[in-house]
Amino acid sequence: MTAVSLSTSTAAALRADAVVVAVAKGPKGLVLAPGAEAVDEAFEGRLAEVLTTVGATGAEGEAVKVPAPAGLKSPLVLAVGLGEVAEDGYSAEALRTAAGVAARTLHGSKKAGFALPAADAASVEALTLGALLGAYTFTACRSDNGKADTKTPLAEVAITGTKRGDKAAKAAVERGTVVAEEMNRTRDLVNMPPNDLFPKSFAEIATTAGKELGVKVEVLDEKALVKGGYGGILGVGVGSARSPRLVKVAYTHPKAKASLAFIGKGITYDSGGISLKPAGHNETMKCDMAGAGAVFASVLAAAKLGLQVNVTGWLALAENMPSGAATRPGDVLRMYGGKTVEVLNTDAEGRLVLADAIVRAGEEKPDYIVDVATLTGAMVMALGSRTFGVMANDDAFRSTVTELAESVGEPAWAMPLPTHLRKPMDSTVADISNMGERMGGGLVAGLFLKEFVADGITWAHLDIAGPAFNEGAPFGYTPKGGTATAVRTLVALAEHAADGKL
Ligand code: BES
Ligand code: MN
Ligand code: ZN
Repeated sequence: MTAVSLSTSTAAALRADAVVVAVAKGPKGLVLAPGAEAVDEAFEGRLAEVLTTVGATGAEGEAVKVPAPAGLKSPLVLAVGLGEVAEDGYSAEALRTAAGVAARTLHGSKKAGFALPAADAASVEALTLGALLGAYTFTACRSDNGKADTKTPLAEVAITGTKRGDKAAKAAVERGTVVAEEMNRTRDLVNMPPNDLFPKSFAEIATTAGKELGVKVEVLDEKALVKGGYGGILGVGVGSARSPRLVKVAYTHPKAKASLAFIGKGITYDSGGISLKPAGHNETMKCDMAGAGAVFASVLAAAKLGLQVNVTGWLALAENMPSGAATRPGDVLRMYGGKTVEVLNTDAEGRLVLADAIVRAGEEKPDYIVDVATLTGAMVMALGSRTFGVMANDDAFRSTVTELAESVGEPAWAMPLPTHLRKPMDSTVADISNMGERMGGGLVAGLFLKEFVADGITWAHLDIAGPAFNEGAPFGYTPKGGTATAVRTLVALAEHAADGKL
């Protein structure tokens, strides 16, 4: 991964491949953001004018390059846009976006000097995170691991003009690096092709990482799942040649202020099963384990940050495939804990694996359960490809989760769980069916999950089907493919709990 460091030298004195400044849209045209002073001096105060001449406007996402004048030790100046000018400081999201655009634009360069707004620790953290996320690439499947690529990610970022021995800034770089590492870990898992990432290999990856970071990992294999009666996970996984797993990843702190259970949908490939998805709907379905990826990484992040909280991640891993052994529409599954479910559509598989995990997690009586799942196409219809839906059995908790998500740069929206949508899920043969009304499908799925939450436990459900996988062009610090959505929200929740605020 790219390395971020703090430099006490000015942007003019720094030797790099490029110096990055930020620009914004002012009422009378382009303005320079704080941090660009030394660079502007080298341009004899004409940097804004020069950038305007070559077409820069300061719009968010913009990246404009100009050659450096003699006074700079670096040959190139890159100006990235922040959007509207902000007199009282740029938002963390604007800084993350600008840093991410800079890192993406400088793909193939070795070192960049950031002459960007970095006056406080929060800004330093935002720049660190944005740069490390923007520089991300996935090369595991290129021949020679991508070594043959002519261009490699930006290797080094130096944030210039910082004070010597600034402990808060140093801590900010460290925290930003931890979050970026774990988000990029999630992206790697999501981007891995489903012939490489399947329940067993995912469980092995979890075991190895758990050992490294002192996080306890327990894997229930198929035999253990049968013994425990995990009918949901087994019913989804039975059609695949690759057997399912339930993985428990536990981070504990001796002075924990609260206990959280995070549950991730981990369908390593969703073909739809016997209710097979048509072509056009299955090309990106390796992303159907993005919830499990986010849960896994956020537990590791909590461990790396040493948060005073107990966080247990549950990864419900299965591959949803059609075969002679697969669950049929009409089959009844006996879920973990004994409830029965009539499977009317094998493509509504996420709720089945999650239900087992929710019941199992509930046995440990955590203060809160949060599940994260690429659960429904309906949520993508409702909220688009960049916002996830938040449902809960508690209005205050739903607000907390939604607000925390927004505060860390993950667009989220509170969604209801209307009780009238429960009745259509009644089954003629089992306790409940896995299908309900078509309209409001995301809410129907949420209501299904709610049935499995033990009384007295506060629960929220994040439907990340929209933002988990970016099928469009890269933007800001988000590449194509896996995005690692929800990692920051889960980490923020764990921090909130550790601070005794939940
Ligand atoms: N994994 C899909 C949901 C999905 C859709 C994720 C688009 C990411 C992008 C899920 O398992 C699914 O197939 N849901 C069905 C449910 C339906 C059969 C009730 C859906 O949304 O169509
Ligand atoms: Mn499905
Ligand atoms: Zn699915």
